[in-house]
Amino acid sequence: MSFRPVLTIARKRDGYALSEGEIREFIAGFVDGSIPDYQMSALAMAIVWRGMTAEETAILLDAMMNSGDLLDWSHLTCATADKHSTGGVGDKVSIPLAPAVAACGVAVPMISGRGLGHTGGTLDKLQSIPGPGRDGRGGGFEVDLPLPVFQAQVAAIGLGLIGQTATIVPADKRLYALRDVTSTVESIPLIVASILSKKLAEGVGSLVLDVKVGPGAFMKTPEQAVLLAEAMVRAGQAAGRKVTAFLTAMDRPLGTHVGNALEIIESIEILRGAGPADTRSEVVRLGGEMLRLAGVVPDLQSGETRIARSLDDGSALARFRQVVQVQGGDPRVCDDPQAILPKAPVIVPVLAEKDGVIAQMDALAVGLAAVRLGAGRNRTDDAVDPAVGFVLHKKPGESVVCGEPWAHVHARTAASAAQAQNDLRASVVISQTDGQRLPLWLDVVY
Ligand code: URA
Repeated sequence: MSFRPVLTIARKRDGYALSEGEIREFIAGFVDGSIPDYQMSALAMAIVWRGMTAEETAILLDAMMNSGDLLDWSHLTCATADKHSTGGVGDKVSIPLAPAVAACGVAVPMISGRGLGHTGGTLDKLQSIPGPGRDGRGGGFEVDLPLPVFQAQVAAIGLGLIGQTATIVPADKRLYALRDVTSTVESIPLIVASILSKKLAEGVGSLVLDVKVGPGAFMKTPEQAVLLAEAMVRAGQAAGRKVTAFLTAMDRPLGTHVGNALEIIESIEILRGAGPADTRSEVVRLGGEMLRLAGVVPDLQSGETRIARSLDDGSALARFRQVVQVQGGDPRVCDDPQAILPKAPVIVPVLAEKDGVIAQMDALAVGLAAVRLGAGRNRTDDAVDPAVGFVLHKKPGESVVCGEPWAHVHARTAASAAQAQNDLRASVVISQTDGQRLPLWLDVVY
């Protein structure tokens, strides 16, 4: 009898585990167009409610991963690794981390995403770097490289930073767009299959995951985040890869800069061996673990030492300069980012309204304020403004005096600047005693 998608939807709706054949036929039919969006959406909603076993999740992941091209790096003489973050506010870690890891001898073929909702995306940040383009016709840093160009670049310099192509995991490209508009993103099996299918299709031997936790993250509580981290680590390991997931805080923004070009400025500070302690700590530890999983160091501490050295001795910055140059950006951004990157025409301070300590800074509120300012997007086809965002001079736990500027807003217009001043003011609590915060490092799953 021919496959009947409606029966599979009904079986999942009623709480049954789906067979391998059903899952594979469903994904194949969705990709070839014989299963319409409405049936895929119905199955996604049934999965949100009923969940999937670890076996079903592994089959879904495999079916999605095999829906398009699979990259292969076996011809390289070095190991390959990548890192993925579930997304947060001010999370620019991938930008300094990828060149640092490449400078330590592990190739990083990184396929990243764009910002959506209150979280920023690596591609939008990189595309804020202006420059001649790869063909000299302008356009700045390019993230849509043809796959053969990407593969040749990774072989030559050990690093490539691109976006998902039409031929890598087409099943996820279509399914994620549907989930976004049918309220079916929040499901651990669907998130695991979506994220890992893309990362595994990339063909890397090892993967470090940064699962953000808190009001500014997908996963609001450590308990939810551990479930997601364990599901991703087990599914990645079942697919034969080395995977570690760290749980890190996203109750406040990471680092000091929020916004596309502004986050490139902070990334370059980190690549110069400076920058805020929390961002550097994440680059060093996540990068150190990538080196450990790739087998180039015996333990995490040695990996951290190697990554820290690459930031302090300029070798990570040199690798970043190389990737900016070959992908069409202006490499002088590494010497004087403020002079090269786009600048917002209106820059205004946010003043403390009283003496005290910044007891809380709500990451979600800061992220939404950045989107409102134009730094992020609400829909996948929205344009982002590369220049706007925030510089946070004070972070939670630090003291302020009345009238002191604790942040600056970089805006396109005076009206949007005034709105953002209000939004930022409302995102913090200034009190006489410090507040409670999540530790930066909450947990790790191997
Ligand atoms: N990011 C993805 O790529 N997929 C999800 O399902 C959630 C976040």
